[in-house]
Order: sequence, then structure tokens, then C-alpha cells
Amino acid sequence: MQVETAAPLIPPRPTIDKLRDVAAECKACDLWKTGTQTVFGEGKPSSLIMFIGEQPGDKEDLAGRPFVGPAGALLDKSLEEAGIDRAKVYVTNVVKHFKWEPRGKRRIHKKPNGVEITACRPWLQAEITVIQPRAIICLGSTAAQAVISPKFRVSVQRGEFVQSELAEYVTATVHPSSILRAPSDEMRRIERERFVNDLRKIRAALGAIAA
Ligand code: URA
Ligand code: SF4
Repeated sequence: MQVETAAPLIPPRPTIDKLRDVAAECKACDLWKTGTQTVFGEGKPSSLIMFIGEQPGDKEDLAGRPFVGPAGALLDKSLEEAGIDRAKVYVTNVVKHFKWEPRGKRRIHKKPNGVEITACRPWLQAEITVIQPRAIICLGSTAAQAVISPKFRVSVQRGEFVQSELAEYVTATVHPSSILRAPSDEMRRIERERFVNDLRKIRAALGAIAA
């Protein structure tokens, strides 16, 4: 089966601004039909660290910017606690449109499938090529399996650095949304602490330049 991808849309000598402009018109998979807009990655071209989530959420879909909802707030707070300068971080997603299904009046997040992930991958690849981050951190198993390996198990391997041609340090940890879904305040506190510890490891690996 031939899968359509965004590859023909990638401009020569791309910059993040150019990519964002072209991605706004992307129709390489069906998600553009139900998403409000393409939510492209965001951050300085000089960013040292790239965080890769799964897909924009409800808030991101409406704002047109990644990680501006509750998961983004948790990420920002955790970065601060881990001593990582938010201004040196680029945030993006494996899939650039919000996939959802209606439940009453709400739009409930739905996991992207392989066709959608494959279709959208050229955008992520182009972002990595332009930014050339020193570290890539996948948030959650969709990103870890798309970027690192389909065999990657976040629950077992979180915080482990893996060999990759994508960057010097490549790892994955849980998605901040999963922390927000923890069943009790105490579990949330514990999960948040573990998340901040994973970020501290990255900070330590990169040394003073990440601060
Ligand atoms: N969750 C993600 O994976 N990405 C976002 O941009 C927001 C929430
Ligand atoms: Fe294009 Fe990605 Fe949106 Fe699909 S999800 S239409 S590939 S930008």
C-alpha cells in the first residue's frame, strides 16, 4: 500500500518559519478535515533540546500553538524545577493536527494511527534537520515508538539514552498528560517528581549549556 506523506511539501533550504507556513496547507492525511488548524512546532532555531509530544490537544488546536494547555503548563513548571531554560527548548509533536472524537459537547483525544504518523513524519524530520538539537526527548509512547523504536517501552526504559543518528542524546519519558490523569493527588505528586528527575538527567547530560 502506498501511503501519502507530506514529503513533497518540504521546501528546499527550509527554515522553521517556512515550514510552518507550508504545513498550514498540508492535506497529506485526513486529519486536516477535523482539526481547526495545523499546530507546528515552536521554539528558537538555536534550541538545544527538542521535546516531541504525540499531537496537539484541544487547547492547542484552538490556539494553533503546541503545549499551551494543561500538559504544557505541567511541562513548563517541570522544566523550571529541573533547571532547564524554557527559552532553549523547542516543542513539537509527531502529528500536527488534533485527532478527536465527540463525546457530548467535548472533543476527546484519539490516538493517531500509523498512516497519519507516517504522513506527518516529514514535518518532524525537517524540524530536526533545521534545529539540530543536542537532545531529543520523546513524551509518551506514541512519540517514543515513532521516533526511537516501535519496541521502546516508556514504562521500562524512561530516561535511558539510546543510540540514534537524530541527536547526541535521545530519550523518552512519560507524557505530561498521563501525570495529570494519575488517580490521586499523591500519585500525581510522585509521578511529577519522577518526571522532573528524568528532566534533571537530561540537564546533567547537557551540562551547563542547558541552564
Ligand atoms: N499534548 C501533546 O502531545 N502535545 C501538545 O502539543 C499538547 C498536549
Ligand atoms: Fe498534514 Fe500532519 Fe496534518 Fe496530516 S496531521 S494533514 S500529515 S500536518
